[in-house]
Amino acid sequence: MKLTRRQLLRAAGYAGTGALLPSYLAGQSDEAGPNTLSGVWLEPFVDPLPLAPVLAPASANAESQQYRIAISEFRQKVHRDLPPTILWGFAGSMPGPTIAARRGCTVKIDWLNRLPLRHRLVVDHNLSGAGKDVPEVRTTIHLHGGHVAPSSDGYPDDWVTPGAEQKTIYPNQQPGATLWYHDHAMGITRLNGMMGLAGFYLLHDPEEERLGLPSGAYDITLAVQDRTFDPRGQISYPVGPAADAPWVPEFFGTHVLVNGRVWPFLNVEPRRYRFRLLNASNSRVYELALLPEQPFIQIGSDGGLLSGPASRDRLLIVPGERLDFIVDFRGREGHRLTLMNYAPAPYPSGGTATPRFVMQFRVRRPINPTPDDSEIPSRFAEVTRLKEDAAVRTRRHVLREYMTADSRLHRVLLNGLRFDDPITEDPRNGTIEIWEIVNPTIDAHPIHLHAIHFQLLDRRRFDVRRHERTSEVVYIREAIPAAPEEQGWKDTILCPPGQVTRIIAPFSGTPGRFVWHCHMLEHEDNEMMRPYLLRG
Ligand code: C2O
Ligand code: CU
Ligand code: CU
Repeated sequence: MKLTRRQLLRAAGYAGTGALLPSYLAGQSDEAGPNTLSGVWLEPFVDPLPLAPVLAPASANAESQQYRIAISEFRQKVHRDLPPTILWGFAGSMPGPTIAARRGCTVKIDWLNRLPLRHRLVVDHNLSGAGKDVPEVRTTIHLHGGHVAPSSDGYPDDWVTPGAEQKTIYPNQQPGATLWYHDHAMGITRLNGMMGLAGFYLLHDPEEERLGLPSGAYDITLAVQDRTFDPRGQISYPVGPAADAPWVPEFFGTHVLVNGRVWPFLNVEPRRYRFRLLNASNSRVYELALLPEQPFIQIGSDGGLLSGPASRDRLLIVPGERLDFIVDFRGREGHRLTLMNYAPAPYPSGGTATPRFVMQFRVRRPINPTPDDSEIPSRFAEVTRLKEDAAVRTRRHVLREYMTADSRLHRVLLNGLRFDDPITEDPRNGTIEIWEIVNPTIDAHPIHLHAIHFQLLDRRRFDVRRHERTSEVVYIREAIPAAPEEQGWKDTILCPPGQVTRIIAPFSGTPGRFVWHCHMLEHEDNEMMRPYLLRG
């Protein structure tokens, strides 16, 4: 089945689709729909999806691989009809090249900051750690989902300036998983992320390879990021209404990039494909579905494979999260399947979802003469669910938003504490804790813990008004236990408004200082981030 362009645009909610011009730059009209907000209408599905190159190590042996990766500024095409965009990336590409690691084999990376001295976007010097007393351009690279020592974790204050380098060691002593690397510099992570500082880090695992899941050319990474472009094709990032306080509480772009291209298409064969999806957007939550409808078979989450496959019509993915899923294109020759987004922004209480397009799959004729012998076993390796009574301690955390007198969002905090306040979370190495994340705000927040993986216990509605008056948490509904697709290992979790999200976390690793934070980068930069100490 093939939808016409017009049917597709209508399904995507574009008003007056008949009036759309084929493709033009710098359109003045806003009749064409929400994607002209930036003054640029871009034709969807005209560029092929770029496949991230796998970076070759500078040197390697059986126990370790070494890389030297330059972080720099360059121009790169993001759409057929836009001039090249100034971006920041790794080894000359945005997103950065994929690092292919193997379980048990150490990866050592020297990250070379070769960026210009001035930022391309407006730095807010009021934010903690981004004052006029520190250099404007700083980077510290973090391996999100990696179980690493504090010295290699990319602590927000451990930044380096242009000309300097950061050395990290990743031991890869954890199950195979889709990890990613990105900048984490204090007070400017949202700006460095917006310029493009992110890439995949795939931790391959021989145990997983034995399962016979689609692999090689049929195992594809998808990094989803929303952006807004000015008519010259350059990244446009908003500034707040007060000239001396440019920080904005969240960013929602008018276009969606996958692997650095606006609304790309991918030609696929009528076979099964594995996709590793990363939401690398600053603030946007996506609720994805295929049009015409076809289920996704989810096989993994942040920390690796689930216990078994879970069939899902829609996939919800918050900033920082990863989802591994399979789409079966067998028997679909000639079909076009469009990946749509139905999540409002802000999530979940915003208006309609725009933009609704993400990308398109075009099912072509088979090229590979060997038949698809991939398998989706009904069980993968068992994910042992942690028992509540194994926890030595329960901590309650409250997410808070603070308004200015004229009711603009001004700061977001965890437990009302600033980043530099003394450490309050100090789990002992080798113990299990339950963290209850109370969200009385109106937004969903993706909460992320460094250095470990945890499991979702449940989510439960509480009386927000009462909480605001008395700080008590009084539940008003039954607890909703983790659904099958959320029963795997997680490092980033959706904390919906009006609910308490309970996670259970085994804290173990190299003792020292890590962070936990909201992964909406605007929130993270305005101190919805706290240190935690893994005690030895
Ligand atoms: Cu994806 Cu603290 O980061
Ligand atoms: Cu992280
Ligand atoms: Cu947040």
